[in-house]
Amino acid sequence: MRLLVCGGAGFIGSAFVRRMLAKHADWEIAVFDKLTYAGNLDNLKTVEADSRYSFVRGDICDREAVGGAIEGAGGIDAIVNFAAETHVDRSIDSPEDFLKTDILGTHTLLEVVRERGISRMVQVSTDEVYGSIDEGSFCETDRISASSPYSASKAGGDLQVLAYHTTFGTPALITRGSNTYGPYQYPEKLIPLFVTNALEGGQLPLYGDGMNVRDWLHADDHADGIEAALLSGRPGEVYNIGGGNERTNREITEIILDELGLSWDTTVKQVTDRPGHDRRYSISCEKAKTELGWQPQVDFEAGLRDTIRWYRDNEWWWHKIKHGTAEFADWRARWYETRG
Ligand code: NAD
Ligand code: TYD
Repeated sequence: MRLLVCGGAGFIGSAFVRRMLAKHADWEIAVFDKLTYAGNLDNLKTVEADSRYSFVRGDICDREAVGGAIEGAGGIDAIVNFAAETHVDRSIDSPEDFLKTDILGTHTLLEVVRERGISRMVQVSTDEVYGSIDEGSFCETDRISASSPYSASKAGGDLQVLAYHTTFGTPALITRGSNTYGPYQYPEKLIPLFVTNALEGGQLPLYGDGMNVRDWLHADDHADGIEAALLSGRPGEVYNIGGGNERTNREITEIILDELGLSWDTTVKQVTDRPGHDRRYSISCEKAKTELGWQPQVDFEAGLRDTIRWYRDNEWWWHKIKHGTAEFADWRARWYETRG
């Protein structure tokens, strides 16, 4: 199997690359990534000397660059697309890049697949496209009802994939993963932000009442779900990939504080809620379980505590992101310093 992994220098993409190279001796992976603020070659350090791995810097909106990467790899069997702008808060702050990468970039990859007769594409999407649900769980046939510019852009990408399959028979399919946690996640997202802030003696900015619910999935389980869809999913289909671990943000915060031996009163700061904040995400994964034979393996509390310890032990990885350039400080100032 020869893969082009777009967005492979990000959090989940790099977990997929590391894991697939470890699992499959005969796979070759070319990573194609723009290296935005969220892309980081440190995430791929453990595979950089592997002759089955290669890296090309480029933008998925640039059709020629994608084609060049495919030719450079000597042709490919499939594209797995992780490349996206991914942070809900940044999509509220400045949505335009989300529309470009998450919609136009996906469209560009579909065109490349069509033009070159590539036999498979997996579009990595999110449960956020369904929107919030108070009770029960969304299945793949439920309607899309995105709330944020991020989820609306991801939904736009999904609709392109389904339309290309219907119109041109493009052999593409979609996975919709739930909130993912693990090592190497950019420290703007809830878990790495709270853990690294806590490690630095800072505050944990909990939005609103902290009772919003997310379904947490370990990055390794997410990678395995995408692998299962790549190997046995049907073109034109959507597969939900969820951890089955619904927790409030308060519960997540409590585990972080407990693991690090800190108290709520001195660390947590309840701040103004995120606009349009989805209350609860929940998906049914029966289709992935029965059709793909996939199911999550990582115990949630053990996985979260391991993850917290990983950030504690790998300050080299996150310290330069938070303090090595002005990028993170600018974001923090723009988004957090004005919140009450
Ligand atoms: P991330 O922000 O950590 O990484 C995104 C990667 O895409 C980065 O390496 C970045 O450089 C690259 N990229 C961005 N724009 C690009 C462009 N125009 N061309 C090429 N590369 C570009 O994201 P992540 O958390 O690893 O998410 C990966 C995928 O999984 C995304 O599509 C996201 O929507 C989806 N997803 C994420 C979660 C989650 O909880 N993080 C859950 C479900 C689905
Ligand atoms: P996040 O990691 O941004 O993922 P998503 O919004 O895609 O689900 O946020 C997870 C939850 O944590 C979400 O309900 C918003 C909340 N949150 C905070 O309370 N404070 C924060 O500083 C951040 C980044 C998120």
